[in-house]
Amino acid sequence: MPPPKSVLDQLLRAAAEVRKNAYAPYSKFPVGAAVLAAGRIHAACNVENSSFPLGVCAERNAVAMAVAAGATRIDAVAVVGGGARPSAPCGGCRQVIAEFAAPEAPVLYATPDGAPVTTTIGALLPAAFGPEDLRAGQGEGSTGNPAARAPGTRRSAARARGSGTSDR
Ligand code: THU
Repeated sequence: MPPPKSVLDQLLRAAAEVRKNAYAPYSKFPVGAAVLAAGRIHAACNVENSSFPLGVCAERNAVAMAVAAGATRIDAVAVVGGGARPSAPCGGCRQVIAEFAAPEAPVLYATPDGAPVTTTIGALLPAAFGPEDLRAGQGEGSTGNPAARAPGTRRSAARARGSGTSDR
């Protein structure tokens, strides 16, 4: 069951509000994102840096806020950014959202005063690479980079609970 429209509207409002705090002096492209997890909204903006590659997208900051608050699963995401047209989450952010969200989790994106585009993370990132792929690859002649081990049960469970995929 997707979250009710009233909650998704609230999520969009939170993304629009936090966008006002964006630190985007270099791109001049402020973005706000809000993540719904276990009934709570976690909002964040993009934070750029004078060392350009260190800038972080709004979505990734919002996911980090949710996880730091104890969330293990993302139920919906709203993104507000762009001017003439709404901008969808970038590829990297899609991957980060997919780590915690079921494919059918709604993703809404909108300009500050336009109607939102409503889609799902599964539509934005089909055939996503995920924890299951790491698990499936374990023990297949790995020379043992410990950093490449499958994540702990906490995140795997979060993903598995809502996953509609059948390759497990
Ligand atoms: N940005 C986001 O915050 N989210 C996205 O999904 C795409 C891009 C930010 C990064 C950078 O601060 C600015 O927008 C221009 O790329």
